Amino acid sequence: MATVRALLDVGIARLRESGSETARLDAELLLAHALDTDRTAILAHTDAPVGDGAAARFQASLDRRAAGEPVAYIRGIKEFHGLAFGIDPRALIPRPETERLVELAELEIVRWLLGAPRPAGSPPVRVIDVGVGSGAVAVTLAVLLRRRGMLDEVTLAATDLSEDALQLARENAVAHAVGDRIAFSTADLLPGSETTRWDVVAANLPYVRSGAMPTLPVATSYEPATALDGGPDGLTVIGRLLDQLPDALAPHGVALLEIGGDQEAALRALVIERLPGWSCEVERDLGGLPRVAILRRDETDAASPAA
Ligand SMILES: C[S@@+](CC[C@H](N)C(=O)[O-])C[C@H]1O[C@@H](n2cnc3c(N)ncnc32)[C@H](O)[C@@H]1O
Repeated sequence: MATVRALLDVGIARLRESGSETARLDAELLLAHALDTDRTAILAHTDAPVGDGAAARFQASLDRRAAGEPVAYIRGIKEFHGLAFGIDPRALIPRPETERLVELAELEIVRWLLGAPRPAGSPPVRVIDVGVGSGAVAVTLAVLLRRRGMLDEVTLAATDLSEDALQLARENAVAHAVGDRIAFSTADLLPGSETTRWDVVAANLPYVRSGAMPTLPVATSYEPATALDGGPDGLTVIGRLLDQLPDALAPHGVALLEIGGDQEAALRALVIERLPGWSCEVERDLGGLPRVAILRRDETDAASPAA
């Protein structure tokens, strides 16, 4: 019977040969998946024997990975902000950069709730995740706010154009016991409403230039193109969201938009053109790249009766 170490050696060599840049990590995750355990257990027991069934499952996973399929789709799971999300080709695999969007949205909500005295009966803070995908942003926010004991002071909504993605997001919300705390709906960006004005809009919309789509790593070809393709300049979908903000954002609301690491200048130019007078700060991710644009109306605009 093969040992963990022997199978890993074979798997790493196979994945290196197929071009994976993370062959060791991929092999460890896939062997752990085949054994229905976690990666730490694999690394702690490299001399343990592996039964034929698990070895065959590992082999099948290696075949899929060597063909280019992302590890997250093979395992059916991806960790995001310390939470496990069920993942499959119905939605984009959540990326670590997006954790920054969640942290900034949480910070805005907490500031909102703690910043000014809130008399009893104050309306909840209205938060929406636009382009919910697997639910990574909305579900994580709900879990973080529940841990802070603030979930009852917030209403959370989430939209997507993709029914498949919405279904997966609902499943993840239920798995994290916040299924009844997020209002999911199908919409092209923000849902049309005469009355609702959002206090916090968080969005990780597609921002890859259409021309760059064929140059992405092969693993991304397994993900829905509509989750990635941001049009000719990469900012077409985000630009349409900017157009909705003057009517949809509350007077002192904030919009947090994830952008590509090379899109800061283009996004700033778009904000000047579409939202004259609004402020735009850009926060960096852990890699030091521009990642989240934070947009606010200017104070005079917000104070005007038409705002
Ligand atoms: C980059 S993915 C992000 C998914 C998820 N929020 C995350 O961070 O992992 C973008 C999502 O936006 C959705 N989307 C694209 N265009 C949209 C539109 N016009 N209105 C609503 N959702 C849209 C896609 O279906 C996809 O689920």
